[in-house]
Amino acid sequence: MADHTDLTTGLIHHPYQPPAGFGAVMPAIHKASTVVFANVAALRSRDWKSRAGYTYGLHGTPTTFTLEQRLATLEGGSHCVLAPSGLAAILLVNVALLKAGDEVLLPDNVYGPSKDMARTLLADWGIGHQRYDPQDASDLARRLGPRSKLVWLEAPGSVTMEFGDLPGLVAAARAAGVATALDNTWGAGIAFRPFELDIDIVMQALTKYPSGGADVLMGSVVTRERGLHERLMQAHGRLGLGVGANDVELVLRSLPSLALRYHAHDRAARALAGWLAGQPRVARVLHPALASGVGHAHWAGLCKAAAGLFSVLLDPALDAARVDAFVDALRLFRIGYSWGGPVSLVVPYDLSAMREDRSALPGHLVRFSIGLEDPADLQADLERALAVLG
Ligand SMILES: Cc1ncc(COP(=O)(O)O)c(C=O)c1O
Repeated sequence: MADHTDLTTGLIHHPYQPPAGFGAVMPAIHKASTVVFANVAALRSRDWKSRAGYTYGLHGTPTTFTLEQRLATLEGGSHCVLAPSGLAAILLVNVALLKAGDEVLLPDNVYGPSKDMARTLLADWGIGHQRYDPQDASDLARRLGPRSKLVWLEAPGSVTMEFGDLPGLVAAARAAGVATALDNTWGAGIAFRPFELDIDIVMQALTKYPSGGADVLMGSVVTRERGLHERLMQAHGRLGLGVGANDVELVLRSLPSLALRYHAHDRAARALAGWLAGQPRVARVLHPALASGVGHAHWAGLCKAAAGLFSVLLDPALDAARVDAFVDALRLFRIGYSWGGPVSLVVPYDLSAMREDRSALPGHLVRFSIGLEDPADLQADLERALAVLG
């Protein structure tokens, strides 16, 4: 019997070769921190910056490159870089494009943690920020100045569901020579084509629809321009934003059903939103594809589809405890953050903590993420819980 040392070495230096001619439908999943070089000359001649090859797992594997290529295709872009969450992808864009003395513009209804990042981390680094009204491109144009280096866009905002004037906002940023980045988590590459609007950077939380399982955190940043992509890659390497191959595998497995799932979420959400609009305690339904949604005309001018996300404003006369009791009475809708997964979710939001001017949307806001359950069962669940409101 081999001694323990021989056995260990033999198990590690196994004569493994990837199988040739193995025509499986799904790509193999490659894992690496270390990537070995054939010799010292090969190690010394590696170009770390270009990512045209393999140097170290953090800088890409065949598995991450495959997902990046597919996401660039999905968005209609040319280059992609992955990050370990949607929020990390937002950070990556900010770090790549901004430095001390610069200013970033955020829509007033931007994803909350993005606003928090601007108020805290970016402020500590000497980067200023302003919030603009996404319905009014002239408001953005007025705010842009010599320090402005990046305009974030998001349509619709993921709680109040207001769909901004994307073409007008992009034109205002373009006229001022300022780069634009869209949080396209809601559109998911399906609802509209951001690069056709001349947006520079398209970011997504793959955590939502591309993963689709409520079990992965990941983000992506897609560009069409090589120089911009290189700036993003440098920031990515410096921040150490690696993603795990098992998580990449889950997203690769879910991507082929993305469009089918997105449209199924859309159909069910529109049906339920329309039904809720007729319920006595529902003051207003905030869904960009419904005429009652803020910015509905902007949605209609741009989009072919909508995500399975909407909010309702319940009767302002209700007390908050009743609203909480309604949410607690739901059975199929689970109480939790995020969206894009198979299970329907519900969250009551405090608008006063989110918006400076809450007078435009009076009432108690409750957001629904419609999953893939039978819509008739979801409607019955809502109907039963609405009885709590009296
Ligand atoms: C619009 C939007 N952008 C970004 C994110 C961040 O994604 P993650 O949860 O993967 O950090 C979220 C998450 O809820 C989101 O709703």
